[in-house]
Amino acid sequence: MDFELDDALLSLQATARRFADEEIIPIAAECDVTGDFPIDVLKKAWELGLSHTGIPEEFGGVGLPVVAACIGVEELARGCSGITTSIISNDLALNPILLGGSDDQCREWLGPCAEDYKLMAFCLSEPGAGSDVAGLQLQAQRDGGDYILNGTKAWITNGGYADLYTVFATLDRSSRHKGMSAFVIPAGTPGLTPGRKEDKMGQRASDTTLVHFDDVRVPERQRLGAEGEGFKIAMATLDRARPQVAALAVGIARRALEESLAYAGERKAFGQQIGDFQAIQFMLADMAKGIEASRLLTMQSAWLLDAGRRAAKQSAMAKCFATDVAMEATTDAVQIFGGNGYTREYPVEKLMRDAKLMQIYEGTNQIQRVVIARELSRE
Ligand code: CAA
Repeated sequence: MDFELDDALLSLQATARRFADEEIIPIAAECDVTGDFPIDVLKKAWELGLSHTGIPEEFGGVGLPVVAACIGVEELARGCSGITTSIISNDLALNPILLGGSDDQCREWLGPCAEDYKLMAFCLSEPGAGSDVAGLQLQAQRDGGDYILNGTKAWITNGGYADLYTVFATLDRSSRHKGMSAFVIPAGTPGLTPGRKEDKMGQRASDTTLVHFDDVRVPERQRLGAEGEGFKIAMATLDRARPQVAALAVGIARRALEESLAYAGERKAFGQQIGDFQAIQFMLADMAKGIEASRLLTMQSAWLLDAGRRAAKQSAMAKCFATDVAMEATTDAVQIFGGNGYTREYPVEKLMRDAKLMQIYEGTNQIQRVVIARELSRE
């Protein structure tokens, strides 16, 4: 077993770290206040090969293995998790094309995203179907060689700005997961309109909206996989995407530790630095061990995926564990900062608000435990 990063990974890590320091951190606090969507910075990340990393080289992309993608994501998230969520949501959205699409479909839809900057959105959740994917209601009806889609998607990252949407709909609600199909739909298709932008507690730099479908006509050649394969494409996509969510959480926790160490070394109480008290040291030690363990689980799940192996259990473990660690680490960071930590003058309250979302999106941590338990019963 070799834990050393090779030169290519070290270089990718350094590029992402520099990008976080020079481009993300300077705007993160402002975007958090205003909720502005920093499209120029997202585009710069793409220009450096830090976004849409899963597009294979044969379709013009950088084709990063999942391990490499996770190394980059951790660095970016140390800068701002909201901005990084917008970045990784492109990979989330392109995976249904890669996993369910034919070579021709990959060339047609992914090729242009490698050539020009195109923002993507993964449309699975609905107002009445978040955890229960098989209960989704977005209706697809056959009409000759086309499908007509009607309904609404909710909590869609990049929803208001996307150039391309991957969308899951049902041809037959009573068939639950067996009735679902996946589609790729470009922005500008009549009837597809972004709806209300959510006013979120954290990760305010990422754009989260409703997306409405009113008689959206989709040609059959935009269906990904066979009719009825949508659910499995969605599950396989989430298995592949969750290590990046875990890596993002590691980035948040690392920033919490970094800020806490600096503060504990400066702030004095009872005539000494607060970092000299064991009460503070134990919190710092727990953060550090949580970060290491989260990164190991993240890398293990990413490595399994790169080896072409089933990773549902490890991806769910990594996502669940790392995001719980991020929540605990950021909460402890606020505690270490005390009264200062509760104010917007210091960066840790943002980290805590941002971390909360990680336990909810891409499958709540309760759902991750369901996945882990089901996988255990298969073994
Ligand atoms: N890979 C392939 N196939 C899978 C699979 C996987 N990981 N998991 C399940 N399946 C198959 C099963 O084998 C079964 O197949 P058969 O019909 O052949 O038997 C079928 O799919 C149905 O499986 P289940 O019975 O397990 O399905 P379920 O309805 O009980 O639901 C669930 C399972 C795990 C709870 C699922 O609904 C789920 O993952 N929910 C969470 C959804 C989620 O993560 N949403 C996040 C949205 S994206 C987002 O948040 C991103 C963002 O904006 C940033």
